[in-house]
Amino acid sequence: MEKENVTLLKYRGSKLNKVKELDFFPKVEETFKQKSSVGGTLSIISFLLILWLIYSETVYFWDSKFVFKFIPDNDYDAKLGINVDITVAMPCANVGADILDSTNQHAYKFGTLEEEDTWFELAPNQRRQFDNERHFNSYLREEYHAVKDILWRNRYIHISQELPPRSEIPNRPYDACRIHGSLILNKVSGNFHITAGKTGKSISLPRGHIHISAFMSDRDYNFTHRINRLSFGEPSPGIVHPLEGDETISEESMYL
Ligand SMILES: *[C@@H]1O[C@H](CO)[C@@H](O)[C@H](O)[C@H]1NC(C)=O
Repeated sequence: MEKENVTLLKYRGSKLNKVKELDFFPKVEETFKQKSSVGGTLSIISFLLILWLIYSETVYFWDSKFVFKFIPDNDYDAKLGINVDITVAMPCANVGADILDSTNQHAYKFGTLEEEDTWFELAPNQRRQFDNERHFNSYLREEYHAVKDILWRNRYIHISQELPPRSEIPNRPYDACRIHGSLILNKVSGNFHITAGKTGKSISLPRGHIHISAFMSDRDYNFTHRINRLSFGEPSPGIVHPLEGDETISEESMYL
């Protein structure tokens, strides 16, 4: 019995040694090794790199992730906000913006949008911000949808900001109309439109309304526009509103 145990231990020991000796890389004798500062530096660099990788992987692991779920909205009575900030290259006197929905309520029930005469051309400081937003949005929209995951993970919060005030005021008459504000909508089908001509508030039609543009000449029409904001609901990080940062110049009146 005793003997058997001893041989078993011996056997085990020899096996372990064999594993220890097993090495795919030939060992170099200590005497042949030479220490160099380059090697040391490389060791330090790789050590730091490993530390950094461990750190970033841990941060990545702990950080939050966005998971999107789509569920039907059955809260029919709730209202939905729409946020608008659009500049059209026509003076406010020639532009009308409103909402028509299937409940056929009057547009002013939803709130009012402010109309502000302005110049279509942006001041340099505004141009810079608008271009940034435009590039960023078109990049996300057209090229790398997944980039946004990384941006949000880094707590990058993209809530589009108001344009800064003009750094210089042009010395010419206003040539555009900025329509901005928020409206509260019913959750039913409807349409929001901005078009030439003021709404005839005094003319009530059983369904819909008309925009009166009888006193405008063809030259007055210019559907060139810029969208700073067009979103639904409360501002929320991580949602890219595809039309924000859009600018369309129309060279011919009546066309877009
Ligand atoms: C409309 O306005 C824009 C900006 O001011 C201008 O570039 C464009 O040429 C205009 N189009 C017409 C048809 O007048």
